[in-house]
Amino acid sequence: MDVSLYLSEIENELNKCCDEFLTKGSKVAESVKYSLLNGGKRTRALFILLTAEMCGANWQDYLRFACGVEMIHCYSLIHDDLPCMDDDNYRRGKPSNHRVFGEGTAMLAGDALAGLGLEVIANAKGFSSEDLITAVRYTANAMGPKGMIYGQELDLEYENSACGKDILNLIHKNKTGAMISLCGKLGSIGCDLSDKKKKAIDTFFANSGLVFQIVDDILDVEGDEKLLGKPVGSDMANEKTTFVKLYGLQGSKDIAEKLTKEAEDILYDAFSGKSDKLIEYTHSLLHRNK
Ligand code: IPE
Ligand code: IPE
Ligand code: MG
Ligand code: MG
Ligand code: MG
Repeated sequence: MDVSLYLSEIENELNKCCDEFLTKGSKVAESVKYSLLNGGKRTRALFILLTAEMCGANWQDYLRFACGVEMIHCYSLIHDDLPCMDDDNYRRGKPSNHRVFGEGTAMLAGDALAGLGLEVIANAKGFSSEDLITAVRYTANAMGPKGMIYGQELDLEYENSACGKDILNLIHKNKTGAMISLCGKLGSIGCDLSDKKKKAIDTFFANSGLVFQIVDDILDVEGDEKLLGKPVGSDMANEKTTFVKLYGLQGSKDIAEKLTKEAEDILYDAFSGKSDKLIEYTHSLLHRNK
């Protein structure tokens, strides 16, 4: 599916946010821009915009939500690469943030992006105050100690020690799934949806978030570093438990296919043809090479 129109608007808006919210001449601002404006698939932003469109809203109105979530995601990547976490030197096809700016500035750039993401979401235009509070609450919850941070905590805790399938699911659902589930929530804020539709969105993104990390685990084994723009073999080097480790490559691909199919059926049942774009884009992520 051609997502170039959405992508150019996302990039445009991210640039505007940097002009609006960053301190000129600051090293942390340079470090933020180095990582934030350096590509990335913008999957979470696209999830939000395609959800809004599916729900009958004007997707352009959701660009600030999309940018806020990309900022928070970017913060998580900068910190994830630090020597005290995954110790990776390469991200989005360039040296990791801390390799260029040093660990102190990289840490601050991550911190800055976390706060900035919330600020950008809270300042979105065209939503009621109540909807904005809900958006910020969902986001803080997804990125926090009951969401992404909890997943990263467990990911570190189980380094060098085997964990079973239940713990692995818990890690992936939190470290990656929480922020992806958030996309369904933010993309449908302000839309008057039936319970069936709300539940379909929740299930769709719960499955898609897990699948996204399963495919990430697969790419860490069989991906091409040049295309991926980040190191392969990082999980093995850090002795992480991954889907590939517990289920093998083919087993992991089968699980990802099954979860995706299940998610697509539920979404289509609730939204029929209106879900086509979101389903097509999400399906393409199953076979991504970066
Ligand atoms: C990588 O995320 C980290 C995970 C949570 C799996 P992405 O694969 O979305 O990275 P970018 O944003 O495209 O660089
Ligand atoms: C990262 O998971 C999850 C978050 C950043 C929250 P990974 O450690 O597998 O992501 P990559 O492979 O470094 O992108
Ligand atoms: Mg990690
Ligand atoms: Mg990592
Ligand atoms: Mg990974």
